[in-house]
Amino acid sequence: MPELQNIYTVVSNEKLCPAFHRLCFDAPAIRDHVRAGQFVHIRTNAHGYEPFFRRPFSVYRAQKHIEVFYEVVGPGTGIMSQWKKGDRIDVLGPVGTPFTHPPEGVKQVVMVAGGIGVAPFLILTDELKKRGLQLVLLYGGRSGEHVYEMKEFKANGCEIHVATNDGTAGVKGFVSEHFDKIDLNPQTTMVYTCGPHVMMHAVQQFTKKHKLRAQAACEEIMACALGACLGCSIRTTKGFRTVCYDGPVFDLQEIIFD
Ligand SMILES: Cc1cc2nc3c(=O)[nH]c(=O)nc-3n(C[C@H](O)[C@H](O)[C@H](O)COP(=O)(O)OP(=O)(O)OC[C@H]3O[C@@H](n4cnc5c(N)ncnc54)[C@H](O)[C@@H]3O)c2cc1C
Ligand code: FES
Repeated sequence: MPELQNIYTVVSNEKLCPAFHRLCFDAPAIRDHVRAGQFVHIRTNAHGYEPFFRRPFSVYRAQKHIEVFYEVVGPGTGIMSQWKKGDRIDVLGPVGTPFTHPPEGVKQVVMVAGGIGVAPFLILTDELKKRGLQLVLLYGGRSGEHVYEMKEFKANGCEIHVATNDGTAGVKGFVSEHFDKIDLNPQTTMVYTCGPHVMMHAVQQFTKKHKLRAQAACEEIMACALGACLGCSIRTTKGFRTVCYDGPVFDLQEIIFD
């Protein structure tokens, strides 16, 4: 799959809840090729050199347009939040390895997401919804400000269980409060995760204990996103691997978190 760099037009840019925004842009070249787990690398410095590097974002959805679900955390995402319909943006993508779909025999797919780590999972449910699987999203956020309606997940038949650190939405505590929703049969269950290291580490320990198949989408800070600078390397059981080129999706048990 060739990576495509192009200029695209913003279709909309809206705030979905206090913490999260959704950018939508018209990019048929990405839409026709992207798969769940891949990301786009967006230039945010249209009027100067800062921020110097592009910023990586999971593709949230690829239907009529490409959607990116994001949280404003610094200068790049701050600039993104100002974009308006009709603005022209410079995007590289799709980049990286996608999720592997569950093999035949799997009946339950559980997605464990922390905060903005929910971003790669809507497109995964779009891809899987016709297979008649039980789709379960376990979502952990810092507070109610990090919880939004998730109506597209519900429309795809996804069962959603929320936990927040302060209990302002869902149950109080970490997303692990909902691990009892996971069917422990390794033949029929597959787990996917994305979020902070501490959460993915907990998912790793749980899935290892119960011998469940699991994949993780990693979100390290990136520069080139081409596998050249090694800035996004992580430790794995197979040695150092770049998240941009070898990932962002890895077998969860291969990642060394500590
Ligand atoms: C493959 C991939 C997919 C991603 N998908 C999404 C997505 O769908 N939506 C989204 O909102 N974000 C996503 N991110 C994270 C996003 O790229 C960063 O939030 C963004 O680059 C921040 O840019 P900034 O200039 O606004 O802030 P910066 O100034 O670059 O960062 C602000 C603060 O956040 C920290 N930070 C930046 N990136 C990360 C990170 N990846 N993990 C932990 N801390 C970080 C920095 O250290 C700094 O303290 C993804 C990252 C990767 C690698
Ligand atoms: S960001 Fe340069 S190797 Fe991954």
